[in-house]
Amino acid sequence: MKLWGGRFEEGPSEIFERFSGSLHFDRRLLEADILGSQAFARALEGVGILTAAEREQLVAAFDQIGADSNQPSFFEGADDEDVHTLVIRKLQEKAGALAEKIHTGRSRNEQVSLDVRLWLRGEIDRALERLASLMQALIDCARRDPEAVVPGYTHLRRAQPVLWAHYLLAYFEMFARDFERLQQGRARVNVLPLGSGALAGSGFPFDREAIARDLGFDAITRNSMDVSGDRDFALDFLYAASATMLHLSRFAEDWILYSSEEFGWLELGDGVTSGSSLMPQKKNPDSLELIRGKCGRVFGDLSALYMTLKGLPMTYNRDMQEDKQPLFDAADQLNGSLEMACEVVKTAKLNPTRPAAAADESWVVATDLAEALARNGTPFHQAHKLAGKLVLESVRSGKKPADWTADALTAFAPEFTAAMVALMRPKEGMKSREIRGGTGPQAVTQALEEAQARLANLS
Ligand code: ARG
Repeated sequence: MKLWGGRFEEGPSEIFERFSGSLHFDRRLLEADILGSQAFARALEGVGILTAAEREQLVAAFDQIGADSNQPSFFEGADDEDVHTLVIRKLQEKAGALAEKIHTGRSRNEQVSLDVRLWLRGEIDRALERLASLMQALIDCARRDPEAVVPGYTHLRRAQPVLWAHYLLAYFEMFARDFERLQQGRARVNVLPLGSGALAGSGFPFDREAIARDLGFDAITRNSMDVSGDRDFALDFLYAASATMLHLSRFAEDWILYSSEEFGWLELGDGVTSGSSLMPQKKNPDSLELIRGKCGRVFGDLSALYMTLKGLPMTYNRDMQEDKQPLFDAADQLNGSLEMACEVVKTAKLNPTRPAAAADESWVVATDLAEALARNGTPFHQAHKLAGKLVLESVRSGKKPADWTADALTAFAPEFTAAMVALMRPKEGMKSREIRGGTGPQAVTQALEEAQARLANLS
């Protein structure tokens, strides 16, 4: 079916219909289209186009369409141009001539904006919930091994010792910012476009504030031309989704490494790993690899919509129909990846002895030594040089930090004191990092408590 045709002498060609139809993907907006149309029926009653009885009949018919849509036969043979057209055809089947009034003073240009906003709001709410679960899983993971020490890396080289909990809280912070970004995006999505007409504003005096309240929108849009051409709200979501996926992908990369035999820190749950068809011993981190892979896809979705919108003249152009597939895909990949990451975190086990040994065997304590010297009055550049020489000497002679005695240390250079030998244990120097935001054990305990309280206030 078409919602137009009076002005044409010939129908569209089969090729054009096949090329331009969007029902095979925008059918995903069916529920939103029904919700929006029911609210619109109430608005039509408000301006006297429908009587209360007619409105009731239409709203009930929409409910039936919603129920019917669960039947597999619902979409069978449907050759409607898009989901909006399909819903109106179904309405005609249910409500007969009365259905002819439903599109009074409404355009599909605003309807598609409305439907996408309603649908996207639900997807964002789902993502927020999953993000909060992941953040909780990170806190729980930190609490399982509150004392565990790992080497922190720069350039993927052992740098300074940190608490495992401190490392996990770093991701908590990234996801907390993602949560904020998604919420900010939601605020821009949750604005009512209805009443804008095709581009010039509806010719019927709808109470737009009332429709907004009816549909749970926080505000109404302010310019009808802007509405027809605007997909910023979709871009905002795609950016927030991309930032979240970026963090998920870096997290995935870390855990792929940390669960490898070379690191041996983490044992991933059997339930989130797969085997090899040939090599019987393999336990592969496919769940994390897929999260990393899907991240690239979501970045692609963001740039796809940017490219589609670039240079479009005011206002609506059919190009904009191409917004949906990237948007649907990004929401699916985001929500799927969040759910997967949460399961990975919940089922992983840290083997704290491996990262502790990695910290003990390397020279991650060198900064602690240099800073101790500086605290005792040695200018930092000299202290840095002295600690560096100590490392060089140790590397040459095959000495680990724990091999140093107080006597050997003070004999190495007079600036070193006997007490400084304690700093050869990674946990000791950490105590000097009780600064807020640092890896000092008390600072981390406090940060964990704060994270839990912040999470409780988020939702
Ligand atoms: N299916 C279209 C879209 O998704 C909405 C229809 C508006 N079409 C039009 N020719 N004005 O953008």
